[in-house]
Amino acid sequence: MKAFLILFLLFIHCANAAEIPWYQQQVENAVVSQEMLAVSAKLVREYKDSDIQEKFAIPVFHKQAGELETSPQSFCRTCHTPLPHQKALRTRTFNNMHVRFIACETCHIDNANANLTYRWFDMEKQQAMTPSPDFLRIGREIDNEIQRQVNPKIAPLLNHERLFSVKDDIFAKKIAAQWKVSNETEKVALHAKIHAPLNWQKIDKTHQGTPCQDCHNDKKSILDLSELGATSKQVQAISTHIIPRYLAHYKNDQQRMTIREMLH
Ligand code: HEC
Ligand code: HEC
Ligand code: HEC
Repeated sequence: MKAFLILFLLFIHCANAAEIPWYQQQVENAVVSQEMLAVSAKLVREYKDSDIQEKFAIPVFHKQAGELETSPQSFCRTCHTPLPHQKALRTRTFNNMHVRFIACETCHIDNANANLTYRWFDMEKQQAMTPSPDFLRIGREIDNEIQRQVNPKIAPLLNHERLFSVKDDIFAKKIAAQWKVSNETEKVALHAKIHAPLNWQKIDKTHQGTPCQDCHNDKKSILDLSELGATSKQVQAISTHIIPRYLAHYKNDQQRMTIREMLH
């Protein structure tokens, strides 16, 4: 009887362990340093200001461009706007364009783990999808006026399970509710925990999000484009695309470039 009970408990434990996404585990176990808290304190203060601005200044441009929502099921959307990239002037438009078909966590969580793969993921049904060239727009002569679907997205899986949280998770709802009632000090602590598993919190700060060249690269892309259903033509077009290749010439944010330099 005792042995049975132990087995039963073990079974429950394993079943749960498989269901809790890696990201949630990381947040729950996060050890937050003073350095991280200092970064969070600064960011949370900035947020209050931009929050107020946003209510008054929804750009007309984006209304005309069609549906504004880019990531309805994303946990990150609890607090971040549908076009969350503003600060980096040179890359923000491109990053914002990618949020329609790439999950935040694909670019904001490091791919160091060997068991991590990127797959088309149905965010509504919560399941990985059979790859298809039809999920990609490139090389298909689609009218640019036609806005792309926000589902499915290229998202990170760990051991075939989603590693990220979604808005419908109990965990996500709990954080959303907690954020709402928190005072500034509590927000700072919560902020540090939520962002601890992400790239930007790394103290060495190599990069905040995946740079263009990590995907648009004919030698070592983090995405296995064929596994995502891309035809060899599409693989070629994505890995050698002229825009990310051009942006790779910039060494820092301040640099200015002449046309002559671009051609080299
Ligand atoms: C509970 C609210 C909340 C959630 C959930 C949340 N964030 Fe944030 N995040 C903030 C706030 C507030 C800031 C600081 C203000 C800002 O930069 O927008 C911030 C800052 C950031 C920054 C750094 C900004 C900078 O300028 O250095 C990144 C990157 C980021 N968040 C990504 C994410 C991603 C990816 C997710 C989902 C995994 C996420 N956040 C989930 C509230 C949240
Ligand atoms: C295609 C990759 C990519 C995707 C997808 C992506 N990001 Fe980012 N993100 C970046 C990069 C790279 C940066 C750092 C700025 C830069 O170098 O362009 C960044 C910076 C940020 C910042 C810092 C603030 C700012 O104004 O730049 C926030 C906040 C952020 N991302 C949130 C999100 C959220 C929320 C999502 C999902 C809705 C998301 N990102 C999806 C690549 C991405
Ligand atoms: C996480 C991987 C990833 C990152 C990071 C990334 N891209 Fe992409 N990008 C893709 C994929 C995949 C496509 C193909 C989308 C399609 O065809 O539907 C693409 C498409 C594009 C396109 C072609 C759009 C079109 O319709 O012709 C441009 C331009 C582009 N990316 C520029 C950039 C730039 C600039 C950056 C950095 C700021 C960047 N990408 C970062 C994966 C990425």
